[in-house]
Order: sequence, then structure tokens, then C-alpha cells
Amino acid sequence: MLHKLIESRLQIAVAAALPGAAVGTVLVRPCPDPKFGDYQTNALMALAKERKLNPRAFAADIAARLDLGNLCAKVEVAGPGFLNFHLQPAAIVRALQGAISSERLFYQPAATPRTVVVDFSSPNVAKPMHVGHIRSTILGDCLARTLRLLGHRVITDNHLGDWGTQFGKLIVGWKHHLDAAALVRDPVAEMERLYRWVNQASGTDPAVLEAARQELVKLQDGDAENLGIWRQMQALSQHQFDTVYGRLGVRFDHTLGESFYNPRLKGVVEDLIARGIARESEGAQVVFFDDDSELKNHPAIVQKSDGAANYATTDLATLAYRIETWHPDEIIYVTDGRQQLHFKQIFAALHRWRPEARVTLAHVWFGSILGGDGKPFKTRSGDTIKLADLLDEAEERALRVVTEKSPDLPEAERREIARVIGLGAIKYQDLLPNRQSDYVFQWDKMLALNGNTAPYLQYAYTRIRSIFRKLADSGGGAGSAGDTTALELAAPPEFRLARHLLNFGLTLETVAAEYRPNYLCNYLYELAGHFTDFYENCPVLKADEPARSHRLALCDLTARVLKQGLDALGIETPERM
Ligand code: ARG
Repeated sequence: MLHKLIESRLQIAVAAALPGAAVGTVLVRPCPDPKFGDYQTNALMALAKERKLNPRAFAADIAARLDLGNLCAKVEVAGPGFLNFHLQPAAIVRALQGAISSERLFYQPAATPRTVVVDFSSPNVAKPMHVGHIRSTILGDCLARTLRLLGHRVITDNHLGDWGTQFGKLIVGWKHHLDAAALVRDPVAEMERLYRWVNQASGTDPAVLEAARQELVKLQDGDAENLGIWRQMQALSQHQFDTVYGRLGVRFDHTLGESFYNPRLKGVVEDLIARGIARESEGAQVVFFDDDSELKNHPAIVQKSDGAANYATTDLATLAYRIETWHPDEIIYVTDGRQQLHFKQIFAALHRWRPEARVTLAHVWFGSILGGDGKPFKTRSGDTIKLADLLDEAEERALRVVTEKSPDLPEAERREIARVIGLGAIKYQDLLPNRQSDYVFQWDKMLALNGNTAPYLQYAYTRIRSIFRKLADSGGGAGSAGDTTALELAAPPEFRLARHLLNFGLTLETVAAEYRPNYLCNYLYELAGHFTDFYENCPVLKADEPARSHRLALCDLTARVLKQGLDALGIETPERM
């Protein structure tokens, strides 16, 4: 049988006492301040207003009619018409027991699973993956993991920038200036050098620019030699991307880059024209948004005056393909904030082009990563920082932290722990801030064992694991807790920890609904805090039975939630540090 979450049971009970109100409108949330109770709803205030009733009287009337079974010790009307619920300790215990005996920790699989496409990472061929792509990769991966955990059908798609005018210049460079040895040593750096060289030369020499234009036309017309060069550049880049994804533990169900949609672009433009959505303007084909106050002055070009399609055309073709192929309920695009206008245009164009499409489109955008000087994060010499170098440095710095902490561990083990900590620190630093704000990249802060960091949470996890190692060493059973059939919570820190555990599912749902992993970061940080408070005040291994078993059960649940929560963030957990 499905174990229903406490908040959904409260929600259903309140809705049942409210004839005519839909369950979905009655949100029940944990009390912001536990002083006032465990859960709270403010839904009655809006309803009272709607029905022209006194909100406090209305709330009291509903409270009196609630059928809550044995869930609550009391229900209070508070403030201008809140209902505050105080749980029965037994209800908390039942929820804990449900989690002890199940894989699923305080969350329910979605009642109606959605098909969600997550478009993220999407770096560009022949260019290094830089820190700008790190946020998309880390955020997108976390959202995909969280949605999957909640039971949705997730399709991840890496929309590589593998087509476009830059290839004209790259092919000129490849044919005339390629340094074969450099290509073997560091293929992406060599391609970048070629591009820079030709780009610069075409600024001063019209003949180079013309040559690039001709190579591009040949590539687009399917010239075998140029296609061959383009495929090599693609393969070399993909290899570099795969190395980074492998290190980050990120995988894609599909990698359908821009080139995949190339054969469809003409049809898209023709269809837009035929339906009167695009029209000619100064030789280009343009979609105007006259009825849209925001986009009125921002028409979208879908075919340039030279006949070429562009980024917008490709994204419309991509949308049509995804809708036809996967029938998604939702498509999430994870890119930096500079693409906001682009996605507003694409979404608005789709609504006119496919008015029947019932798909939710979300642009999940983020701010920049800044250096210590408050400017975009660069190397000392002013170059963009390459993602692979950044990951190397994170692992090296983490190795110093681990070596200082545990000098006696064998080197191979220290390196493996450093890998998990270094990569976790980078990811967590990226997921913790509100994604729309810029943040300053700070090595010391992200690797600190104290504070709201990945190493702190990983360390909290290893501390709990060490309790169970000690237990096993003393012959007290290898893994988790003993008899918890009559689980009892007595001390206030036990209650606080238990109550916080219950909110894991709600937190995951908020992350998925608002596309904001920072909620999960903060939830886990608070969980580690509640655990510390519990552990400092309630002896575990030294306690007498049955308290010992019950406290071990709380330890085990905390470790499992920490591990699963970090996993949803894309962060691994070491067994010791
Ligand atoms: N390649 C693009 C960039 O590096 C991101 C693509 C995002 N996805 C999309 N469907 N437009 O900025």
C-alpha cells in the first residue's frame, strides 16, 4: 500500500471539509516557525474572501469539521485565518517507520507522471567547454535527476552547437593552417586557434572572408571533403565533451545537435510563411508579435536576407521535432540569462504555430560566475577558464584538504575521496545560490568543511557511517538499526530531526516545480544541523535499549536522506573522509 505523505493527508482532509474547493488549491506546508505547529495552511483566507466570510470564523468553522483521524494532537486558528496543525507524535513515528521499511524516503511517486524534456549543457563544437557551460550542465543534470526521482519520464537532450557560419572559417583554417602535431596534442585548442586566426584575418582581408563564405556554401551543399572535415571536428569535440561528462557523472538520452535539424529548416520557414506567421521584411522572413506588449518591438528573424536560417529557425524545428517524437508535457531549457529574449520569441512563435500544443515551456536561466574581482571568471592571463582544468584544480585542492585531515589513509583512497569532494564542492557552490544571481567563484569557501558546502554535508554523512562501522566492530550488527517496531521519540532534538526528515519529499517537489535546486541544498544543510544538534545531545551507541535502536534508526534515516539528496544534486558521497 502506498504510504501517503502527511501533508497530502492534511490537504485532503481540509479539502473534504470545504465543499466546492479543489484539493489542489489547498496547500499545506511545514510551519515556517515550529513554535506554531508542524504544518500550516493559508488557503482558507483566500476562500473566505471569495465567499465574503470572516476569515477567522470561517477557519474555526472548518477546523471544527476536520476529520483528521489520529494525525493531529490539535489544530489552531492563528493570525488572520491560518490553520496550524500540531501532529501526534505517533503520526511522526508512523511516517518514520514507513521510510525505514521502504526504498522511498518521505516522497511519493508523482500520481500523474509527466514526460519532461530537459535541454541542457549544449556546448559548441570546435570550442572548449568553458565555465559558462558548467552551470547549465550542473543545473540541468540536477533537475533531470530530481524529476526522475519523483517518477516523471525524463528525456535529456544535449542540443550541441554543431552547425553554423563558424564552420566556413574553421574549414579555411583546417585546409590551410592546420598544425597536425598540435591537433594530436590538444585538438580543441588547435581548432580554437584556427578559428581565431581566420576570424582575425577575415577582419582585415576580404579574400579570407570570401574564402570562408565559399567553404560554408560548399559544406551546406554537401561537399564531401568539407563534410569530412566537419565530421572530424565534431568527433574530436565530442570526445572532449564525453570526458567532462564522464567526470561529472552526467549522461544524455540524446545528443541531437543543431545539425540534426538542418534538413528541416526550409520546411519550417515555408510552413510559417504559408500560415501567415512569418512575412517578408527587407528581404528577410520575420515573425512579428504585434499583440504582445513585451515582444512588440522584438520581431524574430527566421530567415536572413541571404536565405540562411538561424538559431531561432533551428529552435523552432527542434520544438516541432520534440513535440512530434516525444509528446512531452514540459520542455525545460537551461541556459544563461542572455538568452531570455530568444526563448520568449521561440515560445511565443510556437503558440501561434502550434496553437493546439499542450506543452509547458520553461526557460530556466542563470547568472554568471564571477572571479574575485567581481568580473567574469577568467584565468590570470585573461583567457576563459576551461572546464577540464577547473575540475583538475578542484580535485588537487581537495586532496590537500583530505591529506591534512586523514594523513594515514593510503594515497589511492585519499585521491578517490578528493575526487568526490572536489567535484561535489564545485557542483554545490553552483547549485546553492539563487540561480538567477551571479556568484563569485571561491575555492576556499566551497571546500570548507564548515558552512553550507558539499564537503560539510559529505562529512556529516561519513560521521553517521562511522557510527555504524563502530557498531559493526563491537559486534552489534553490520548495517542499520535494530528493533524499531515500537519506535519512540523522547528528546526535543529527536523530534526536530524527525520532523525535518519528513519534509524531504516536499522539498524535492518544490525543486521540480520551481526549477530551483537551492531549496534542496538548504534543506540538506538544515538536516545536517538538526543531526548535529541531536548527536551532541543524545548519546547513540552508549544509550540503553530501546533508545539505542531508535536513535540508530534516526541516524540511518538521516544518512539515507543525505545520500539520496546529494545524489539528486548529482553529488557523490564518500564512506569516509
Ligand atoms: N549552444 C548554445 C550555447 O552555447 C546553447 C543551446 C541551448 N539550447 C537550445 N535549444 N537553444 O549558448
